[in-house]
Amino acid sequence: MKETVVSGIRPTGKLHLGNYFGAVSNFIKMQHEYNCYFFIADLHSLTTHPTPSDLHGYVKHVLVEYLACGINPEETTIYVQSDVPEVAELYLYLNMNAYMGELERSTSFKDKVRSQPDNVNAGLLTYPSLMAADILIHKATKVPVGKDQEQHLEMTRTFGNRFNRLYNADYFPEPYAFNYSSNLVKVPGLDGKGKMGKSEGDANCIYLSDSPEIIRKKVSRAVTDAGPTSDNQEKPEAIQNLFELMKIVSLPDTVNHFDELYNRQAIRYGDFKKQLAEDMIIFNTPIRERIEDIAKDTSYLRQVAKHGALKARESAQKTIREVRELIGFKPF
Ligand code: ADP
Ligand code: TRP
Repeated sequence: MKETVVSGIRPTGKLHLGNYFGAVSNFIKMQHEYNCYFFIADLHSLTTHPTPSDLHGYVKHVLVEYLACGINPEETTIYVQSDVPEVAELYLYLNMNAYMGELERSTSFKDKVRSQPDNVNAGLLTYPSLMAADILIHKATKVPVGKDQEQHLEMTRTFGNRFNRLYNADYFPEPYAFNYSSNLVKVPGLDGKGKMGKSEGDANCIYLSDSPEIIRKKVSRAVTDAGPTSDNQEKPEAIQNLFELMKIVSLPDTVNHFDELYNRQAIRYGDFKKQLAEDMIIFNTPIRERIEDIAKDTSYLRQVAKHGALKARESAQKTIREVRELIGFKPF
């Protein structure tokens, strides 16, 4: 039996290189080896109160982008989370055994309390139990996600194990974060500090759908400094980040070339950025072209979402049937 894999991305915007290299690139490889479920986490995105049209538009973006990146709906189950109501049912059960203290200690919750103090809703607090429901509903063991999601995986294991203990059953397996590279990936942004992320602003992200002109403009505006002042000096964060991005999209020889120029203080950031932008464009172009084609094919999108929901519900309904029985809901 193939191991089961689950992952999802919240539809809060278009996908960027961080999403691609942190998550989607693994989805593409894993689909050939595992029993995969990749979904669009629209229930999770409700914590930010999107308008109905934004919500629908972003769900479509992510679906189109999954397909454009090469996730094959014949091989993999691709679905929209809200099409599988069993997830919400399992979320309710898991919430009964999730404690305030542990939910409040989650770093993503603490970040939200800090960044959006006016909207600290219960959905944010219980975000980890919804995520656990997504994973446990298919009894997955591997979850391809970026480094920022490790704590959520740890909580998922806690909730699954707690359920097993409470109902004295060896029911849910333990899921672990997964990435083909040995460490979980963190793709830096263009603003000189931290990771590429939608919440860090559009100028910080290279989206898969960005045109060559936009990529050139964003990269040319990326934060740098006045240049190295001694040979072989350690690179400051902003420069290191651009090198990290180059490692992702360029050939090793190109990276070595600029590294060597940096080390002998001969680097010209203008040339460095031009090369980086061109290599990003080479990477992005085929994906962007597929995005444009697939987005036009509404009937194909409808068919993929419908087929995916059916397959996901089949697996989810089996789990819910068994969970209900373990909990003690029995028909008379
Ligand atoms: P964002 O930070 O842009 O809001 P999400 O939080 O929706 O992105 O992340 C979706 C997926 O992409 C997750 O698996 C996350 O770990 C991964 N991811 C997002 N940004 C990065 C990044 N900069 N580097 C690596 N992985 C990332
Ligand atoms: N929390 C994830 C993120 O912000 C999205 C997500 C929701 C997810 N449910 C999941 C990822 C289940 C993997 C498995 O990126």
